[in-house]
Amino acid sequence: MVDLVAFGIAAGLVSVFVVLHVAKGTEWESNPDISQDILETRAATVPETSFPEPMNRSIGGGGGAVAIEGGEGGEGGELEEAEPEEQSPADMPEDEVEYHEIELAKQGETIEIASNETILDKAEDEGFDLPYACRQGQCVSCSGFIPDGPAEDHVVHYEQETFTDEEMEEGYTLTCVAYPIADFTLETGEAP
Ligand code: FES
Repeated sequence: MVDLVAFGIAAGLVSVFVVLHVAKGTEWESNPDISQDILETRAATVPETSFPEPMNRSIGGGGGAVAIEGGEGGEGGELEEAEPEEQSPADMPEDEVEYHEIELAKQGETIEIASNETILDKAEDEGFDLPYACRQGQCVSCSGFIPDGPAEDHVVHYEQETFTDEEMEEGYTLTCVAYPIADFTLETGEAP
């Protein structure tokens, strides 16, 4: 009797396993991989640059220098326009050029210098051996003194980075970046 009961239970379990084994599965499918879509969407938000990508970005580092427009007043991710650069007097139109008499006090000579050429360049063209080093307004080697200062009443300095406003007020000028706008007397080789 016991054997019959055990046999019945065993047969029932076997039937259940068989039914489960052959039963059709559900229609469930795993979610599609959207990681590539997310990467492309994020890449589209980075503004185009007009310069080559720096090396540190191409290898995945850095990225802090990327300027992304945001906050108030930002317009569609466009970068702000740079300030227009100051124009050099050397580039002035030919019909605007004026000529001025510059007396070189120590040399005892007066030379004529156009408003689109520097005092140093023209003095050298005229055969004077004036001091200089960088020729870019960044040292003091070419310094001169205008006794009737302020210097900027007599010259325009283009990209001078040496003298303070006070020093130019006193009459000091950097002859390598100074373009005349008036007649004046200059003492070469004088520095503050
Ligand atoms: S030569 Fe250096 S500032 Fe003129």
